[in-house]
Amino acid sequence: MLPWKFLAMGRRAPGVGNLPLHLLRIFKMFNLMGKTISIANQKGGVGKTTTAVNLSASLAVAEKKVLLVDFDPQGNATSGVGLVKGGPKETIYDVIIGQRRLHDVICDTEIAFLKAVPATVDLIGAEVELMEADNKESGLKEALRGIVDDFEYILVDCPPSLNLLTVNALTASDSVLIPLQCEYYALEGISEILRTIELIRESLNPNLAIEGILLTMFDPRNNLAHQVVEEAKNHFSDEVFETIIHRNVRLSESPSFGRPVILYDILSKGAVNYMDLAKELIHKNKRP
Ligand SMILES: Nc1ncnc2c1ncn2[C@@H]1O[C@H](COP(=O)(O)OP(=O)(O)OP(=O)(O)O)[C@@H](O)[C@H]1O
Ligand SMILES: [Mg+2]
Repeated sequence: MLPWKFLAMGRRAPGVGNLPLHLLRIFKMFNLMGKTISIANQKGGVGKTTTAVNLSASLAVAEKKVLLVDFDPQGNATSGVGLVKGGPKETIYDVIIGQRRLHDVICDTEIAFLKAVPATVDLIGAEVELMEADNKESGLKEALRGIVDDFEYILVDCPPSLNLLTVNALTASDSVLIPLQCEYYALEGISEILRTIELIRESLNPNLAIEGILLTMFDPRNNLAHQVVEEAKNHFSDEVFETIIHRNVRLSESPSFGRPVILYDILSKGAVNYMDLAKELIHKNKRP
């Protein structure tokens, strides 16, 4: 089913918590509240989870307090930060169905400043339950309400679909980071996620911004990859992050060790790229 079927058009969303929007903007401006960023693209395998895990870890080693929320039933971000799938008994599913508060399911990781909320395949069930609920688009937003002040960045790893889980993530977020794989059809798929963002802005979350488009899996030896970079920059100019994530074997190996690449091989191109991305993001969000 298309995501906009779920959207109650014309309804204006309140700010985070019960803050009026103008106060919310002032709080955000002075970094008095955490920023929630969804990592989303309905296309599969473009580097969403790799970005969620490694950007979170890189921000955390830069001593930013980060919460990584796995919002994909595949649970890859969960295992990517070393939480064994099925290990933590309580997950984001229990929060969405109202059995637990988010606070109760936050787990520590190897990096002190990085906490994570795990997901398992159960989350598919939460989607079904959300459909019946009054707050079907805002379950995650309500869950995050109590903890936004405890973190500087909250990163949400979305599933490869524009389903109700993704609608929840976008409704709960201040911005969206869109990974775009440097390959032939990459730009074609992006219009779908941009249209969804527009619909969410019109109805559920008028403040939803685009944090940036991130070019991933760039292979400098491949001419096509250079063309994709050029086209993305022509189309989206400032919205494209300057940092480009190269294709790097260490990035694909590190999840099997349950570690972000920075703990697996700090000197690898992948680790350096994601540290650069963290720096760029921090700089972008600094206020004069
Ligand atoms: N920069 C990179 N270099 C090499 N391999 C990468 C890179 N980024 C991601 N990969 C690998 O590509 C595959 C897909 O990446 P990832 O899981 O991050 O994508 P995804 O968008 O989250 O996928 P899904 O849509 O299934 O959730 C994984 O095997 C990952 O290890
Ligand atoms: Mg993923």
